[in-house]
Amino acid sequence: MKIKTLYLVWAFIVLIISHGCKTKDNNTNSIEGKVEALLSEMTIEEKIGQMNQYNGFWDVTGPAPSGGDAKMKYEHIKKGWVGSMLNVRGAKQVREIQKLAVEGSRLGIPILFGLDVIHGYKTIAPIPLAEAASWDLKAIKKSARTAAIEASAIGINWTFAPMVDVSRDARWGRVMEGSGEDPYLGAKIGIARIKGFQGKDLSAPNTIAACAKHFAGYGFAEAGRDYNTVDIGTSTLYNIILPPFKAAVENNVKTIMNSFNILNGIPSTGNASLMRDILKDEWGFKGFVISDWASIAEMTQHGFSKDLKDAAEVAVKAGCDMDMESYGYIKYLAELVKAGKVDEKLIDDAARRILRVKFELGLFDDPYKYCNEEREKELIYHKDHMEAALDMARKSIVLLKNEKQLLPLKKNQKKIAVIGALAADKNSPLGSWRIGSDDNTAVSVIEGLKNHKVSFSYAKGANLVIEQPTFTTVVKINKTDKSGFPEAVKLAQSSEVVIMVLGEHGFQTGEGRSRTDLGLPGVQQELLEAVYKVNRNIVLVLMNGRPLTITWADEHIPAIVEAWQLGTQTGNAVAQVLFGDYNPSGKLTMSFPRSVGQVPIYYNHYSTGRGNNVEGNVFWSHYIDESNSPLYPFGYGLSYSKFDYSNLTIDDTDKNKIKVSVTVTNSSKTAGEEVTQLYIHDRTASVARPVKELKGFKKYRLAPDESKTITFELGPKELGFYNNNGKFIVEKGDFDVMVGSNSQSGLKGEFTL
Ligand code: GLC
Repeated sequence: MKIKTLYLVWAFIVLIISHGCKTKDNNTNSIEGKVEALLSEMTIEEKIGQMNQYNGFWDVTGPAPSGGDAKMKYEHIKKGWVGSMLNVRGAKQVREIQKLAVEGSRLGIPILFGLDVIHGYKTIAPIPLAEAASWDLKAIKKSARTAAIEASAIGINWTFAPMVDVSRDARWGRVMEGSGEDPYLGAKIGIARIKGFQGKDLSAPNTIAACAKHFAGYGFAEAGRDYNTVDIGTSTLYNIILPPFKAAVENNVKTIMNSFNILNGIPSTGNASLMRDILKDEWGFKGFVISDWASIAEMTQHGFSKDLKDAAEVAVKAGCDMDMESYGYIKYLAELVKAGKVDEKLIDDAARRILRVKFELGLFDDPYKYCNEEREKELIYHKDHMEAALDMARKSIVLLKNEKQLLPLKKNQKKIAVIGALAADKNSPLGSWRIGSDDNTAVSVIEGLKNHKVSFSYAKGANLVIEQPTFTTVVKINKTDKSGFPEAVKLAQSSEVVIMVLGEHGFQTGEGRSRTDLGLPGVQQELLEAVYKVNRNIVLVLMNGRPLTITWADEHIPAIVEAWQLGTQTGNAVAQVLFGDYNPSGKLTMSFPRSVGQVPIYYNHYSTGRGNNVEGNVFWSHYIDESNSPLYPFGYGLSYSKFDYSNLTIDDTDKNKIKVSVTVTNSSKTAGEEVTQLYIHDRTASVARPVKELKGFKKYRLAPDESKTITFELGPKELGFYNNNGKFIVEKGDFDVMVGSNSQSGLKGEFTL
């Protein structure tokens, strides 16, 4: 349609408004007014078109779409039947498709372009589980801001992040994408990411809409097997799973994405209690809900819907506003409305929510604001982004063990050996959700050591994979080829210290990547033991996307550094920590199990009726072949400094503001950062409460010999909980308090509410 005609249509709409047509908000300057005016002009097909999201034409992040094709999608765009596209990227491509919609369709409604910018677009930040280990909300927000700047420079105005699924099961591949096992920390980190993506002004050209996902319960898949059944109690749903989503809604997240799973017998995508009762009615969510990839269609596989038409009816009634790649809405909703099976008001509500976000993004003022090829060239891989990625990476590293202060290493240390395929890998460190990045753009560990002017010799020891995997292929791990062992062992034998870089390939975690064994994959454990036989002076650098059962390493290896998948700046961050230019400050946000048989294992567990070991009695909650405790607990991480805790005080005179303070002293000669954590235990309640719950944390820096008083305040928000009717309550009674540097040890006190 020519611009002129379009302008006339637009003028006509404005004319109608100015004559006070019946809209919810006659103020045509307000977004609500504009939404109502536009809605009143739309046909039922055009409204349903807003609820339809198609995948781009060459990139799938799910099973390749059956049916539908580029030609059909182009036709639908011209008809105004496509509200959003995903996986299209590059300012040029986006502009081309946007032009088709804005100039080709009757009303010229701009398209939303979504992409999984999970931890960076081109400049890749550490995986979210690593970022979470920094406990540094400012750095995490900045990391999301950087991702938004790069993504918006290539035409994206919506990211499918942050993933705020709490999970306690390291077998699940997507633990890399979340913030770990705790809802309180998960909520704070989710908010930081949303603020980073959405900024203060969503209409700015470098801010993008965020999406809290996957609503809800996805991280509790049975046996850690992705997409598996979720069957949980009300208390877990309300007290563990929902709080990060509620926090996201309270902090203005613009979209929510359904989860694939069935939740207590009802697929989340068709779950009215989740989307209508809780999300939209109780929490007052004003944004829109998008399905996950084909999750509407998958309700038939769940045995919940008869066919796609039935699934479309169920999903729209349950509150799912946009259909990602099921083609269900575009195929059947108009027919269902005409047949009186679906009330057009539901279509209006969904379209209204989607249009509102488009107006808030400023897309109607300038549909091409995100398609500036000059900005794309100027901002991608910008040096500021590299600096932010490096800062985030080094803050995400967790020091797990450092016997005899083997670390930090000295640069002039003689004969350093570096061993392990991952040490030279420039792809794995980018993690699995690097859909926009370029291959081999990570600074590898050996490159980082060279940048750090460290002299060393390198031997691979063994391949980790048999062939390079991709986002959609199954990883083939080398389980037999040890031909590189002799060279590595010989090098280790003649070296003073050995840096071994072992762990998982980047595509061994992420979606569709569950594992039943949490040990070092392939022949890496054998390589570690072979090197250990000839040289015990080993620094183990782990590169992984989930907690691993590194029990043998913990018993034998003097220094262990958790380096996750740290993104583009991996090698530089690892070098800075190994050689002391950065004092590690990370703390785990997921418990590391001793054995996979302990999983799910988490710190905020219930006490059970037999939590204690009665002397000589087997009748208590335990294993006969393993301890109950994790190898490394939630909140654990060492430093090159030494932090001592003293002087815990609790002032509970004001029951609405209980003050807890502690003195922390850096009794070392090295400046460093500490994360002081506060845990409570509600001893007796109408619904049993966990043995401890994180309800406060502070990260701060202490110079050598410096002391600081750290204070916390506890109010109803921290002391209350959801009962089994989903009601938030605060009960009087006795509470234990623990303040320290991890979830297992600290100074203890108590108060009465
Ligand atoms: C995937 C993921 C979801 C992602 C979506 C679009 O299947 O489950 O997290 O945002 O599809 O790529």
